[in-house]
Amino acid sequence: NPDTVFTGKKFLITAGPTQEAIDPVRYISNHSSGRMGISLAERAAEKGAKVTLVLGPTALKPKPHPNIETISVVTALEMFNATKTHHTESQVVIFCAAVADYRSEKPSDQKIKKKENALNISLIKNPDIAKTLGENKKQGQVHVGFALETDEGLGSAERKLNEKNFDFVVLNSLLDPEAGFQKNTNQVTILSKGKKKIKTPVLTKDKLATQILDRIASILENQKYN
Ligand code: C5P
Repeated sequence: NPDTVFTGKKFLITAGPTQEAIDPVRYISNHSSGRMGISLAERAAEKGAKVTLVLGPTALKPKPHPNIETISVVTALEMFNATKTHHTESQVVIFCAAVADYRSEKPSDQKIKKKENALNISLIKNPDIAKTLGENKKQGQVHVGFALETDEGLGSAERKLNEKNFDFVVLNSLLDPEAGFQKNTNQVTILSKGKKKIKTPVLTKDKLATQILDRIASILENQKYN
């Protein structure tokens, strides 16, 4: 039964963007609203899962629910630390966050003054949370990832599936007018290890969350017989 398989199971979900300071008043970030991850957290909690939601800076918050603990973070490094702390104890980990790939190497502690011409800021790589934790995936743990591409994206989604050791990856292509940031709807392609890919119809993010959870439920159900 897909609605009892989650009872008491620990879920860890990352969601939203991260913000990387350039100076005290400016930052690098992206357009993630957090809506998809928040929806996943709410639906999983309703199904009885115990959810830790590691949430970047967003206007949206999950509906309060006794099964949801929200940890608010700002930067990728904070998100990495919070996620690492809760990883081992979690049975299902969903990497929904749009983590900034780079941060300023040396954020200025004073507001940077306007220059005569160009300004150069040195950026360094943030850790890849999903990849690092994918290398430490526990027995029986399910890892789900997202990929957002501005082209069709099948090749890079396939690469992410393997590189980050996901059980499946949910691909959003911004070529689909109903998909992507700041939208209520989504149309995605789901790629799984060793299975045929499927393209969903246009769904609300809530409906898509339910479909993703059904897929996770069936993976958990199958584990019982292996
Ligand atoms: O490589 P890309 O950023 O497109 O991969 C997207 C997937 O990896 C998402 O599931 C995202 O949450 C996760 N990710 C992460 N840490 C990063 C970058 C991406 O967990 N630094």
